[in-house]
Parts: sequence; C-alpha cells; structure tokens
Amino acid sequence: MSFPKDFLWGGAVAANQYEGGWDAEGKGLSTADVVTRGSRSQARYVTYQTADGVVHADEMFTLNTPDDAKFGVFEGFDYPSHEAVDGYHRFKEDIALFAQMGFKTFRTSINWARIFPTGLETEPNEAGLKFYDELFDECNKHGIKPLVTLSHYETPLGLTNAWGSWNDPRTIEAFLRYVKVVGERYKGKVEYWLTFNEINTLGHGGWMGAGVPSTDPQKLAMTAKHQLLASAKAVELLHAIDANNKVGNMIAFMTYYPLTCNPDDIMACWSEMNSNFFYCDVQARGYYPAYKLKEYEREGIDIHLTDEEKETLKNGTVDFISFSYYMSNCAAKQSDAAETSIGNMSMGFKNPYLKASDWGWQIDPTGLRYSLNVLYDRYQKPLMIVENGVGTQDELEEGDVVHDGAHIDYLRDHIKAMDQAINEDGVELWGYTPWGCIDLVSASTGEMHKRYGFIYVDYQDDGTGEGRRIKKDSFDWYKNVIATNGDDL
Ligand code: BG6
Repeated sequence: MSFPKDFLWGGAVAANQYEGGWDAEGKGLSTADVVTRGSRSQARYVTYQTADGVVHADEMFTLNTPDDAKFGVFEGFDYPSHEAVDGYHRFKEDIALFAQMGFKTFRTSINWARIFPTGLETEPNEAGLKFYDELFDECNKHGIKPLVTLSHYETPLGLTNAWGSWNDPRTIEAFLRYVKVVGERYKGKVEYWLTFNEINTLGHGGWMGAGVPSTDPQKLAMTAKHQLLASAKAVELLHAIDANNKVGNMIAFMTYYPLTCNPDDIMACWSEMNSNFFYCDVQARGYYPAYKLKEYEREGIDIHLTDEEKETLKNGTVDFISFSYYMSNCAAKQSDAAETSIGNMSMGFKNPYLKASDWGWQIDPTGLRYSLNVLYDRYQKPLMIVENGVGTQDELEEGDVVHDGAHIDYLRDHIKAMDQAINEDGVELWGYTPWGCIDLVSASTGEMHKRYGFIYVDYQDDGTGEGRRIKKDSFDWYKNVIATNGDDL
C-alpha cells in the first residue's frame, strides 16, 4: 500500500451548499437560491412568478416553466442555501480544522453571483472578489492548495431571467468575463481549476447545472454545447493567464453494470455508460463522439456545430479528468424481475450483491476501482476523485461526540479501491477530496441531516441550532490516514 508522495488528500464543498451569505455585500441571486428545502420523500421546488402575478413552485428535476416565468425568492418558502452552514462567516475556523486533519487541498467553488451579481455586469463586485482572496489566502497560509470549481450548480439567476441562461450563447461570453476576472485575480493563489461541476447531469434536466428551466431535448443539447464551448475556452484562457494552471473537467461518474449477460442488457449498459462519457469525451478528446451525433440525428436534434466551434473544442481539452463517485447501478433493456434503484440523478436496477445507504444509493467500492480504470484507459489523462462519500443521519450525543462509523467504513473501503487502482493497475490518480468534508446542505434534497462530514455542524432542518462545529470520530481517523499517506486505514 503506498500513495504517491505528493498525493492531494483533502475534502470538497460547493459555495451554495456551504457559504450562506446569499445576499451579503452585493451578491446577486444564484439558481440555487430559489430552490426550496425538500427531503427523501419531498421534492425540492424552484420558485417563480408569471406575468399575471401568480407565484409558482415546481419540482426542480422536472422543471418546465412558461416563457413569462421570472424566478425569484418569495415569502413563505424555506431556501436552505440562504444560510447553508454559514461558511461565509466561519471559513477561517473551518479551514483551521481542515489543516488539523492535514488537508493538502480543499475543493470549493466560487459563487459566480458574488462576483457578477446578475451575470450581466461588465465590472465585478469588489467585495465578492475580496471574500475569495481571504478564503484562498487562508488555505495557502495552512499549506492547503485551493481546488476551485468555476460553476457548481450556482449560475447567476439574472442570466436565466434575461435570456434563459445557458440555452443562449451570450452566456458563454458572460462566463468568460467572469473566468478572466477570477483567473487574473487569483493568479498565484489558485493553480487547480475545474470548469463545470457534474456537467453530465444536464442529461437529467436543465435547472441545477445550467439554470435552464426545461427538459426539452433540443434545448438541453444546445445548453450542453454552450457549456462545452465555454469549458474549452476557459481552459485556453486559464492557460494563457498562468502557464502553471491545471484545468480539469468534472463529471458525475455513475458506473453501470449489465443486469444480466443478455446481450440486450450489455447494449443497455453501453448506452448508459455513454451518457457518462459523452461530455468527458468532448472535454478530453476535443470532439463530439460519433454515437452522440448519430443519436441527435435519430432524435431530430440539430446542434448547428460550426467549423469554428469544432476548432474551439479541439483547442480546449482539459489537463486532467475529475469526477464524483458515490455508487453504481445496473442497466437492463427491461426487467420485470428486478427492483429499480435510485442515486444522484441516476436511475437503474438494483444490484443484488450490494447494500445501499439510507437514501438508497448503492455502496460499491469495487465500482470505484473499475471506474478509475475505465476512465484512465479511455483518456490516458491524470484523474482526481473530487467527490465521494455516503450521506448518513449522524447523531450528536452527550459530551459532543458523533460516532460516524458508517462514514469511516465507506471511505476506508473506497480508499482501498483507490490503492488497488494505483498500485495494482497503474492508474495515475492525483488526489482525493471526499464530499462534504464539513456537513452541508444536500443538493438533491436540500436537507441538513443527510450528513457527509468529518465535522458535524449543529444546524437542523427545522432551522434550529447555532452552527457549532464538532469533530466526529471520522475526523481523527482521516487525520491519521493523511498523516500515514494512506498506509494506516
Ligand atoms: C453531487 C454534487 O451530485 O453529489 C454535490 O456535485 C452534491 O453538489 C453531492 O451535494 C451529494 O449529493 P446530495 O444530494 O447527497 O447532496
């Protein structure tokens, strides 16, 4: 067992799930700020008003709104991103705790609407820039390298209300204006960048990843094209700003296995895997894969790809591939015999060999080893696992203790799988940032009590709690993992 000497151990959050401070110091609304709290059984809603003055709240994952919808915050709704876990005011305390664990890197995102409040401005908001100056300085002071996502489910809402956000090509220019500003401002402070968080979740609706209130396939294909072009241009821009910059993409890797050896199931699995690969193929290889172009053709989708755009994609391939990995799923052409399973924006059939979390996500460390190999073989680029973990219902017990053995077991097994991929299979893996290293708001359900962290945050779903930070059992465990560079699990 040995991890590379300079392996980047760390943890990950996203601005809208961690910071709060939703309207602090000139920040505008982001798409996350108009999404209500849900639960395992209650969907999250997006709020908007139509021209007749009526306020509506529709399910986030199936959102299809009328053209006159104006999105916003309305009375009587509970929006968990507004306070989140108050990282905006407490980040110094939190980074000190990450440093105690020995983090080498900390993945967070810049909330674009802190820098350009509606996305339409030509001049940035200085207070927002200063906030991230302080945050990145604090990381670097502790020897923690910031790993920064440019867009993590938090597009400025002004872009949606102005022209439908990423469905319109003008958003590419707005994004590049933002990337230029932050790239230049944080030159020397940030060296690792990711473009769009889980870009492939666009395949499951447009709100979360792009602020596009639609599930229309033509619109989503154009939205994807605009983000892929923006990602390629951002890679070029960040390289031009600083030759030391390393820019990666980020996909939700939802590994699929065929449910049976029926050749039809093998083909169903191939097709599900392509929905993982498509965005990554473009970002890593620089062109649209044949299977996707044919699929568009069959479905009557036209993405009007010009020669100039093809050139842009070719010139903006990423330096490394990053991905989230939580679970695996089974694919079948059809099955009356098997139960369906759920996951982070994925659906499939249950695997009888696997157990699942309380939220139904199937736990599969071997699937991580498999995924690392599949991605490395396909792209031959360095990899980073920038999200991994299991959401559990942790209890704060008397004496300020939290026994989160389920986190330790999950992470231990996945780190073992990483070790096998590196040492037995030869995969080049740069780093590992488990998700929600400090408890935060869940993206899919908006809950607080779906907890991933090494650090418990005393906020509850009913709005109670003071946000105190408490070390869980996993805190010392992970500290020792990092101190021994993965030798002692
Ligand atoms: C990923 C997202 O899908 O999974 C994160 O990038 C998210 O933003 C994480 O929080 C875990 O999902 P959830 O729904 O449990 O918060």
